[in-house]
Amino acid sequence: MNEGMHEPRIGYAGVGAYVPDTVLTNHDVAQVVETSDEWIQRRTGIQTRRIMRDDESVLDMAVAAARRALDDAGVAAEQIGDIRVGVNTWMRFPSLATQLQNELGAPDASASDVAAGCAGFVYAVEAAYDRLFVEKVRHGRDVVALVVGVDGLSHITNWTDRQTCVLLGDGAGAVVLKAVDKGEILATHTHAAGQYGDMLYSDSVLTPQSNGSAKQFTHEAKGVRPYLHMDGRKVYGVAVETMVNDVRTVIDKYNRMAGERLTVNDIDYVYPHQANLRIVEMVARRLKVPLEKVYTEGVVHYGNTSTASIPLGYWDNRERRGTGTGLEVDVAFGAGFASGAILRRAG
Ligand code: ACO
Repeated sequence: MNEGMHEPRIGYAGVGAYVPDTVLTNHDVAQVVETSDEWIQRRTGIQTRRIMRDDESVLDMAVAAARRALDDAGVAAEQIGDIRVGVNTWMRFPSLATQLQNELGAPDASASDVAAGCAGFVYAVEAAYDRLFVEKVRHGRDVVALVVGVDGLSHITNWTDRQTCVLLGDGAGAVVLKAVDKGEILATHTHAAGQYGDMLYSDSVLTPQSNGSAKQFTHEAKGVRPYLHMDGRKVYGVAVETMVNDVRTVIDKYNRMAGERLTVNDIDYVYPHQANLRIVEMVARRLKVPLEKVYTEGVVHYGNTSTASIPLGYWDNRERRGTGTGLEVDVAFGAGFASGAILRRAG
């Protein structure tokens, strides 16, 4: 940064989201596996989740959320210079981001997918933010980015595994990232811990649990679903620890950079990844943030929508916009274990 040059303010200029119409209640799930509404609510907080229709796709959800975000920002698709999509359930190429670019009609955009488990949205925002920052500071160009978090976890749900099938839902969320007057991103932090990879993973589309090497591709493997597997207990412990650390780390990072002394007490509102209400509540307790300052409704109504859950929260909470005075934090954690946090001024 040159002396005397102001740091560019880059933040969310618009938000959007989409969830499928089909609602699956806990009672519906209890028709499929041995469980109960009472068990699911007590252990997870989840009451309902949304599931894609057979003729609905992850791309359809991404398009719907993206159009709402563009509308909200008053930005035309032609103005987008960069598209980043956090997604784990596209499982083919060309990338979902390029297909979204085509559907929206954004001829001047670069487009790429980000695979970082449920933290995909946070990773994608960080990548887009860094690009926009460099474009502005190095080249004096204002680039507009579209960042989407979308997942269709119902496609990789094993409906005979009661430990996981009760948790998952489908959805999409999106933001338009650009130069803003207020609500700028202050710092981002991402991290990974690959040593925990086998606590939460999906089967390979090649053969179940293959390592992806070509020789394991067999004709017999055709039609195999890359089901999600999870050791819930172990994931719970690491998730809480990691999310708490990531919130503290992103604040420390900003303090070092800006010469400030912010603490968690300065946080006005937290958007944690909506994996499970118990994880969210434990993270809030460990951070000593009152639950009124934490988004919790998403997991209750939509279940765990993976990389969509944070931007879905922005959309659900859009009446709050313009009312916040302080700081907001987004924090996510998922398979990998990839995790991360974003510190923003309230927009
Ligand atoms: N209905 C009824 N009983 C169940 C169910 C169910 N759906 N699932 C498990 N049980 C039973 C088990 O069989 C076990 O019975 P047993 O004691 O007779 O053996 C008992 O309930 C306890 O099982 P646990 O797995 O120990 O239950 P726990 O209290 O750990 O709750 C849960 C399970 C909800 C999955 C919990 O471990 C959890 O929340 N983990 C975090 C998972 C998560 O949110 N992951 C996502 C984060 S990353 C991402 O977003 C992808």
